[in-house]
Amino acid sequence: MLHETPIFKSSNFQIASQYSNFQINTSSNCFYFCPFDQPVHLAGSKTAKMALLDGKYLAGIIKKELAAAVVALQAEGKRAPHLAAVLVGEDPASQAYVGNKVKSCAEVGFQSTLIRRPADVSQEELLEIVASLNDNPEIDGFIVQLPLPKHIHEDAITLAIRPEKDVDGFHPVNFGRMAQGMPAFLPATPFGILEMLRRYEIPTSGKEVVVVGRSNIVGTPMSLLLSRKGYPGDATVTLCHSRTKDIAAHTRRADILIAAIGSPEFIKADMVKEGAVVIDVGINRVEDAAAPRGYRLAGDVDFKGVEPKASWITPVPGGVGQLTVIALLINTLKAFKKEVF
Ligand code: GUN
Repeated sequence: MLHETPIFKSSNFQIASQYSNFQINTSSNCFYFCPFDQPVHLAGSKTAKMALLDGKYLAGIIKKELAAAVVALQAEGKRAPHLAAVLVGEDPASQAYVGNKVKSCAEVGFQSTLIRRPADVSQEELLEIVASLNDNPEIDGFIVQLPLPKHIHEDAITLAIRPEKDVDGFHPVNFGRMAQGMPAFLPATPFGILEMLRRYEIPTSGKEVVVVGRSNIVGTPMSLLLSRKGYPGDATVTLCHSRTKDIAAHTRRADILIAAIGSPEFIKADMVKEGAVVIDVGINRVEDAAAPRGYRLAGDVDFKGVEPKASWITPVPGGVGQLTVIALLINTLKAFKKEVF
């Protein structure tokens, strides 16, 4: 028996309608299928600052598109898409990320269910929860927030999730389909970065892309996706990691530099080419006695130092993180519509 916290409120459709006064252009020219296609500049924002890849602003645009899609489903007499999230333990960052996912669902009119377990939950119980979500026809997609406590094998959990409901895109079936250019749920952070490049119409064909960090959920899929045929891809990609001999020698060649190392302000100005597009995936908590919470958020890029050299740059917070949640919502809508499987 699951102890679930259903987050769906009857007012979700009302919230969604506030967001939904928006025209959707459904023609898509990119290599992955995305139901929406509104470039940032067409939205005519006065808040989108030049040179800043404004994740918060772009997320607001896409939330309106998603809310409009929910209202359209409602008009057809269908229910709203439903995302479930499993959160184990009390890690503050994980709680904040999952809280944000649940809140974003409500904003666009999706249903959400949060399932919480203490850090000492057994792997067996977690597998039972996964099996129950797999079998629940009311749940379109779900995620198990990572990292998990050490006594739980993350791989066993990932493998237990049905690929059709794996809106994180972590299951090897989705990863393999992605690598081969087949329809797949793309992992949220790389998907969010692709959307950012596409909506800001940043050219990628023939560009030198350097990705720093080879994690399974960001660096590795990012490098595969940007080297795929079509837009936003066709790039020449270098993947740097902890054993790379001279990281700066690579990053200085980058037309597009993607930092996903998890090390605060690792990328300094002297590692960046003049005019580069700089994408910062890092969200690091750095102790700061002067900050109200005793810490501040820092990216993997020294923003102050690098910004004057960059043609475009993402801020932290307010950059890639905002698009990661949006990507998860798009995947949930695709799961609901059965557009991938
Ligand atoms: N932990 C950090 N990023 C992610 C993510 O995208 N999905 C899940 N499930 N856990 C994460």
